[in-house]
Amino acid sequence: MKKIIPVKPFWYSDVVVFPKLVTVITTVNKAGIVNAAPFAYFMQYDIMQKTPRIFLGMRKFSHTYQNIVATGEFVINFPSADFLEDIMETCRFYPEGENELEHTRFTAIPSHTVKPPSIKECGQILECTLDRCYELDKTQGHVIGNVAAIVVDEDLITLGREERFRRLNLPISLGDEKRTYFYFGRINQIERYELKPPPGENDVQEEINTGMPWDEKALASLLHVPKDIRTMIVEMSEDIVRREGADRMTYERYMKLMEEYAPPETMERFRE
Ligand SMILES: Cc1cc2nc3c(=O)[nH]c(=O)nc-3n(C[C@H](O)[C@H](O)[C@H](O)COP(=O)(O)O)c2cc1C
Repeated sequence: MKKIIPVKPFWYSDVVVFPKLVTVITTVNKAGIVNAAPFAYFMQYDIMQKTPRIFLGMRKFSHTYQNIVATGEFVINFPSADFLEDIMETCRFYPEGENELEHTRFTAIPSHTVKPPSIKECGQILECTLDRCYELDKTQGHVIGNVAAIVVDEDLITLGREERFRRLNLPISLGDEKRTYFYFGRINQIERYELKPPPGENDVQEEINTGMPWDEKALASLLHVPKDIRTMIVEMSEDIVRREGADRMTYERYMKLMEEYAPPETMERFRE
């Protein structure tokens, strides 16, 4: 039997089971003093290359929100599950001006593009600037941030997705009970599934809409891109070459783009 239950504040966290990534956000206040706190209400907002952005939801009275509004900069660090104690330490309600990192095993290192420091022990880091923020109501603040730099440990770059995930070992936030007990999960089983085209899709030749002329060979290789993401690939590729000053898509340029952005194991689908 299904039952409707009353909606309470924090419904997403203590009533509904809603697993999310755990991040530690570092900011500085106007005086340059570092602040760090965990945040899980975090999501990609603009997935394209031109203006990559992320979305964050937070208490508007948190030091993190106040610092982001005051300085326009923040860093999203992704700690491994080995640091859950330290993550919880950064969550404590220290007074304004207290650097929570000093109570943890985390090491602050300079960021590349923004003033707030990054956390050395995090293998994956997003350095961000404020795009816009607004107050949803009396308590909640929403932040849309520009991704100014994506910084990863060098040895992660060449790893496959599964191996990279195992190395990062990111904990998953499973919500809390009474704002006191926070639950986390570790992922120790990863399964892989292939996305297959619907039967017969490739038999039907569809017209492809492009925003600039494409060489015939380049157009032909586009047919190998699954139909649902074709428009996105066309727009993304044209955007890049347009910014390079070109006004048509050559097969050679398109293949280079695919080599750069498509996973290597899918490249054979694109080659003629
Ligand atoms: C795993 C975890 C995830 C959290 N996610 C959020 C969040 O997304 N938004 C939020 O407002 N608070 C979140 N919190 C609570 C803040 O971390 C907490 O209010 C913190 O003290 C804020 O610190 P600050 O005032 O130094 O910014 C989370 C806490 C934990 C432990």
